[in-house]
Amino acid sequence: MRQLIAGNWKMHCLMREAVALAEGVAAGAGGIAAELLVCPTALHVAAVAAALKGTPVAVGGQDCHAAKQGAHTGDIAAPMLRDAGATFVILGHSERRHDHHETDAQVRAKTVAAIEAGLTPIVCVGETEAHRSVGEEQSVVAGQLAGSLPTPFPGVVAYEPVWAIGTGKTATEADVEAMHGCIRRELLRLLGAAGAGVRILYGGSVRPANAGSLLALPEVGGALVGGASLKADDFLAIARAAVSG
Ligand code: PGA
Repeated sequence: MRQLIAGNWKMHCLMREAVALAEGVAAGAGGIAAELLVCPTALHVAAVAAALKGTPVAVGGQDCHAAKQGAHTGDIAAPMLRDAGATFVILGHSERRHDHHETDAQVRAKTVAAIEAGLTPIVCVGETEAHRSVGEEQSVVAGQLAGSLPTPFPGVVAYEPVWAIGTGKTATEADVEAMHGCIRRELLRLLGAAGAGVRILYGGSVRPANAGSLLALPEVGGALVGGASLKADDFLAIARAAVSG
């Protein structure tokens, strides 16, 4: 399966900056074996999708509501993202779990809505430093998977240790290998044989300098990149480090 290199632009960029960044990514995408995805703020999805039309770079949202439509001021429904040109959506990112107190049950409901709207969900899981310091990282992540993934799950999982996001601290190769192995076992348990086909991305301070070694690890199906995705050259360098097959 091709690796997926996804850029999570979070709450960055004005419109013209987002379009220029997308154009920069598309300009360097030729010859890259990995699947490429950029996730701007929802307000910019349509403009970025228009800028990327005819290129191999896909567009995704960063969140969606669980309802198709309704009286939910300030929220964005999955069919709206799809209509604006998105084909993916990131769900349950730790910043949303923290800032908006999103629960596993809410993430699962959003995931169902995303799938119904024709979007591929990227469901994020990951332990805090406090969990890891007491050896609970695998049980926390297994619990998040069991609570957040619907069955069937035609989507992607992103393992993002909370302590590695935006901190410059990356999980060690041994940590990543152990956790991705644990996630695969959980996916097989929850989804049966279909669990073998779910890509598991690593995220948390992925940069050009560490991408090659992280992406070569077993069960790493790509990367979810925050900070380094805001520079087209860095994002492309990470994508070039992806392994095919
Ligand atoms: P980072 O963010 O690459 O800046 O650590 C990753 C993410 O939150 O998806």
